[in-house]
Amino acid sequence: MTTPTIELKPSASPLADAERAAILTSPGFGRHFTDHMVTIKWTEGRGWHDGQLVPYAAISLDPASMVLHYAQEIFEGLKAYRQPDGSVATFRPDKNAKRFQASARRLGMPELPVETFIEACDALVKQDAAWVPAHGGEESLYLRPFMIATEVGLGVKPANDYLFLVIASPAGAYFPGGVQPVSIWVSEDHVRAVPGGMGDAKTGGNYAASLLAQAEAAAKGCAQVCYLDAVERKWVEELGGMNLYFVYGNKIITPTLTGSILEGVTRDSLLAVARDLGYEAEEGRISVDQWQRDSENGTLTEVFACGTAAVITPVGTVKRTGAEWTQSGGEPGEVTLRLRQALLDIQRGTAEDKHGWMHPL
Ligand code: COI
Repeated sequence: MTTPTIELKPSASPLADAERAAILTSPGFGRHFTDHMVTIKWTEGRGWHDGQLVPYAAISLDPASMVLHYAQEIFEGLKAYRQPDGSVATFRPDKNAKRFQASARRLGMPELPVETFIEACDALVKQDAAWVPAHGGEESLYLRPFMIATEVGLGVKPANDYLFLVIASPAGAYFPGGVQPVSIWVSEDHVRAVPGGMGDAKTGGNYAASLLAQAEAAAKGCAQVCYLDAVERKWVEELGGMNLYFVYGNKIITPTLTGSILEGVTRDSLLAVARDLGYEAEEGRISVDQWQRDSENGTLTEVFACGTAAVITPVGTVKRTGAEWTQSGGEPGEVTLRLRQALLDIQRGTAEDKHGWMHPL
């Protein structure tokens, strides 16, 4: 099926330089959006068509659009970084494009070609390059590609019409405390995903499913919720929107992908970055009991969360029913900070990109 070129229809009134500069000094996460967005339609029998880069604006949907009823929706998250010479590069967009295809297959949606996904992200970043924060800080431009079912009707079936969009948002730290340790509530009542379900697809439903447990975590004074496997309620899976790593001295371990865990791009990158730095890095199963025991006996030296939005965020206090403990004395751990810096150095263009991850624009 042919893929559309993206027709440029630039905004006649982008945000004034001074207003944009004020936002970029403290963007927060997901609160401000750039001047443009990309839209591409898909129709049964016709395929992808009408690719456009247009001014950022509200979209109009029929109230009976299928996405509003049966949640046929998928999304991605990736970032563009200002490089030392002032140019801009995105991090592993091909990996996000392939995961977007995998999510589409799981939800019965059409697969956007990898090159179209990348072209759409490139077009938006090039058009709104002034929104990519300055080199050297924590900030970057977060891209949110997503696709929704737009066919009108209430029958439950894969839709015949879809809309793919890319929007962009300047991003600082995901957690208001920056790289300060986050507290975790281990939910033993609610699960995020089940074997054979959609846990490894990046779809809004998984995030909706996490909100009640997330609210419980907040009520326990914690910033994030950690899910256990749905069957034995024993094995650590992931947080509401990020993967986990456990540090045992010189070895780092992340939960094995079981089908109910999202295959994070940061998670995958860290396996390689850690090995480059001389650590042992592997996937494995960690039970919540082992987590508690090894923290208490001191063999589990650090725990951190990772994701595109969260980058690498240390875990501090951990709470579960009847127990509470603290990782690495409540301070960011040495291995955590070293891995974080090594990954950010690649993304910001100050370390060699030996894996060919950066995509210059
Ligand atoms: C990302 O890290 O890109 C995500 O989609 C997770 C979400 C919690 C912002």
